[in-house]
Amino acid sequence: MHIAIVDANPPALRAIRLAKEMGHRVSYFQPKLTQYALTGENLHIVRSVDRLIEGLDTTDSEVVLAALTECHAETPIDVAVTFQELAAEAVAHACRKLGLSGTAPDAVLTARRKDRCRAELAAAGLASARYALAADTREALAAADRIGYPVVLKPPSGSASLLSHVAYDAAEAVAACTDIQAGLDAVPPHWRAQFTRGVLVEELLVGRLVSVEIGARDGEFFPFCVSGRIRSPENEVVELGSCVPADLSEEETAACVTYAQDVCRAIGADLGIFHLEMMVTDRGPVLVEFNPRIMGGGLPNAYRCATGQEIYRSWLQITTGEPVDVPDGFAQCTAVLAVTARTGGRLSATADLSPLAGQADVLEVLGFDVYRTGPGEQVTPGQAVARFILRAADRRAVVARATELTGHLETSLGISLMTGDKDIADADADADRLAS
Ligand SMILES: Nc1ncnc2c1ncn2[C@@H]1O[C@H](COP(=O)(O)OP(=O)(O)OP(=O)(O)O)[C@@H](O)[C@H]1O
Ligand SMILES: [Mg+2]
Repeated sequence: MHIAIVDANPPALRAIRLAKEMGHRVSYFQPKLTQYALTGENLHIVRSVDRLIEGLDTTDSEVVLAALTECHAETPIDVAVTFQELAAEAVAHACRKLGLSGTAPDAVLTARRKDRCRAELAAAGLASARYALAADTREALAAADRIGYPVVLKPPSGSASLLSHVAYDAAEAVAACTDIQAGLDAVPPHWRAQFTRGVLVEELLVGRLVSVEIGARDGEFFPFCVSGRIRSPENEVVELGSCVPADLSEEETAACVTYAQDVCRAIGADLGIFHLEMMVTDRGPVLVEFNPRIMGGGLPNAYRCATGQEIYRSWLQITTGEPVDVPDGFAQCTAVLAVTARTGGRLSATADLSPLAGQADVLEVLGFDVYRTGPGEQVTPGQAVARFILRAADRRAVVARATELTGHLETSLGISLMTGDKDIADADADADRLAS
């Protein structure tokens, strides 16, 4: 098979490696600014492809179309994919123009506009949140009044939780709008066009945040896992980690999977593996966002440690029409934790991750180099400087142990770090209320 991969996030370089190992022809379209460091193993993987096209702006539809057109003319492409969210629209447009196989372009384009995605959910009669797309602060305030506080304000085509805010009153909503419209310094330059599509105002969904990783092919669905999201108790839009599986009952897990399938059908996501974030609320699961790509961050690593399976292999199985491996249960809780700066500052000159070394329950460490930082580097509040995979009996044990390790890391890194888990804090607060 000839697989055209347009850009990848760091974990997805494994997809390239597996595709080559499985004997496929791989053309890889690499951006000017890669999200991964071009050193060592990464460089080796990138250079192993059959055709490497470098230096593209993979978010630019014209550029991607021209590059895929040329590649397709040389050797016909069987499937085109991106593992980089901000390139998804450009690849969808090119797939549509060239008639290439991949996730249905309309589904990708709907998913990348969170307001349009909500419109599709409403049309299909599926659970959703009240929302409005506002062009400016005045419209956003009017929308927030209609929806009712608290609200979430975020870019409608955002990524990496950049510029997402919760507002409890009009003053906070104004501050959020100002940040969304003027805070683009925090956003990589070639992402900015997609970040300037107005302000999406949404009802704040209350509950436990989870994600469903699900594959689709020919009307059949492959549920890979439902994972929990560990959010900061101080600021719920900051994600500190994920755990596999989520801390849900069997019924809740089944409801999330059924809802994920309904959402895929509603937006027409027909082929590929998708990452659906949803809140498990009192009225059942409600979509937060649909990512038309495989899970990112450290979640593919946590999934691999939890299941012994490789999500990118599953993607290749789906793509090539082979039987698809789906895990059948999880013995313990495996989590990926982000080492996240609480305040800005400089990592100490001797900063290292030695507190994680030699710990039997720490299964993997994604070090400074993955996050392009290191000793003496300046970091911003909320920035992840490393990640690690931790296994324990259950979510509560994972969070307790992560808090302990984070304390040691604070000493080693010389900055204050974020810890905790909003879901556990909420559950404890509920228990306290009931007891008193
Ligand atoms: N309507 C909502 N109700 C409650 N929380 C929300 C809502 N929308 C967003 N959030 C919170 O804000 C975070 C970021 O929002 P969202 O996932 O839509 O943005 P993103 O930038 O695409 O995120 P990422 O790429 O990091 O997953 C979510 O993970 C969730 O914690
Ligand atoms: Mg998200």
